[in-house]
Amino acid sequence: MPITKAVIPAAGLGTRFLPATKAMPKEMLPVVDTPAIQYVVEEAVRAGLSDLLMVTGRNKNALENHFDRATELEAMLEAKGDQRRLEAVLRSTNLATLHYVRQRDPLGLGHAVLRAQMHVGHEPFAVLLGDDLIDERDVLLERMIAVHDMKNATVIALMEVEPQAAHLYGIATVETTDLDDVVKITGLVEKPASGTAPSNLAVIGRYVLQPEIFPILEATKPGSGGEIQLTDGLNALATGDIAGGVYGVIFSGRRYDTGDRLDYLKAIVQVATSREDLGPDFLAWLRQFMATH
Ligand code: UTP
Repeated sequence: MPITKAVIPAAGLGTRFLPATKAMPKEMLPVVDTPAIQYVVEEAVRAGLSDLLMVTGRNKNALENHFDRATELEAMLEAKGDQRRLEAVLRSTNLATLHYVRQRDPLGLGHAVLRAQMHVGHEPFAVLLGDDLIDERDVLLERMIAVHDMKNATVIALMEVEPQAAHLYGIATVETTDLDDVVKITGLVEKPASGTAPSNLAVIGRYVLQPEIFPILEATKPGSGGEIQLTDGLNALATGDIAGGVYGVIFSGRRYDTGDRLDYLKAIVQVATSREDLGPDFLAWLRQFMATH
């Protein structure tokens, strides 16, 4: 069955970014002039996903408004003849059909994904974390969908991390396969205690899930941080070899966790320097700045 649905969790509290996230979801933080969530929606659309469900929480209005019409603004820009900005405003409105479901309490990523059960039904679907950016010059989701089609199994994205950073991620135990960039996952652990990580392969925010994840998440008890962890549900799929088990696609491109302040700054520099309109001036300034610091 071809994958058409994507779930975008965006209901976390974003405490690492307080006070900016006191009254605004972290997914609305701009990377240059576009909120992080728009890059994520654009990535899903590029991968051919046409039915998008966003899981929102408190302060959801900004997210919904961003993908809705802004008729007054459109009329004002039209009257001024400002075609370029009008196109920028209309772009997010016309990107995709978006649906919304509310996660009343941020009880964890696994709990957020479970909110999508009614909408998704019994078909495989993609999950893209709303604060996790994959540089559009690097391909990931398309490859994961291709591996899903090949294996008829759950596929997650993995990235090598420094051993001292492993305690911040879900970490996978893996076996090689006949494909260089694909591994079979035999176990997963969320935020392992320092020095206990089974590998340096960390789970990042892209997933292609079999619907069998839903009953597993329903039965998953709160884990690391007292939250219902998607990693724990995936571990059950992997260790039980349920619905084809779990495969990992190893990603070596550019990825930014915009919910982390340092990564957020890196994302802005990467995106700004690659932009035609800002890149040359920004790079020239950056070089000067680096020379004096
Ligand atoms: P994070 O763990 O980065 O989100 O979740 P957080 O809890 O908001 O972050 P901090 O640690 O407090 O700063 C990754 C993704 O999962 C979503 C988040 O919105 C983010 O896109 N999420 C997380 C939910 O939708 N619901 C949750 O209960 C938790």
